[in-house]
Amino acid sequence: MLIAGNWKMFKGVAEAASFCHELREADLGDVDVVVCPPYTALATAVQVLAGTDIGVFAQNVHWEDEGAFTGEVSNAMLRELGVYGTIVGHSERRQYFCETDETVARRVEGALAAGLHVIACVGETEAEREAGETEAVLRRQVSVLEPDESLVIAYEPVWAIGTGRTATPELAQEAHAFVKSLLDLPVLYGGSVKPENAADLLAQPDVDGALVGGASLDVDSFAAICRAGSRS
Ligand code: 13P
Repeated sequence: MLIAGNWKMFKGVAEAASFCHELREADLGDVDVVVCPPYTALATAVQVLAGTDIGVFAQNVHWEDEGAFTGEVSNAMLRELGVYGTIVGHSERRQYFCETDETVARRVEGALAAGLHVIACVGETEAEREAGETEAVLRRQVSVLEPDESLVIAYEPVWAIGTGRTATPELAQEAHAFVKSLLDLPVLYGGSVKPENAADLLAQPDVDGALVGGASLDVDSFAAICRAGSRS
């Protein structure tokens, strides 16, 4: 069971440091825990969480080790900081920053080859679900990925992200089972996971953890979700 907190574009260095100090002291139950701060707070998070089992992941990474790629960050740069892994292909990157299945595949491949762990995100938009295209979209997004022991998938229905509209546990289970039928890897659920709904979602047989956005920004709610995962 893996519970990952995606901070998105929240928390600078000072806030990240105090969050990570509090997280060290929190009761997280018996689950694997990862935090994904913005780039500028990665070094601080690695330092403050040193000596714990809590992993620090980035939110994106480029596939080249270095080069003329303004605004990008490489695997080697993340490794140098002591970062353990990275998210790739989050729907916000696909929606707002022109990320495509092809660039997702290159980023995933590069990160795995560099020895990082990867959470690769897939998920349909509301329009795609309403048009009955969910399985086709998931098949297309998953088809560019290959099995790897350092790779997990996050199923994040875009209509459930930051909206408070969580997928029902049954709907999440159905999508996870479908993703696993395409690629036999652990699948995290993401989209408005909160302490109140985490236990039901995480109890589903094919839900192997959660990728938490808003509710991961507060230590108490993030820890409560971790403990819910620990009981499932
Ligand atoms: P919320 O938990 O804020 O809906 O965000 C989910 C998400 O996008 C995690 O990557």
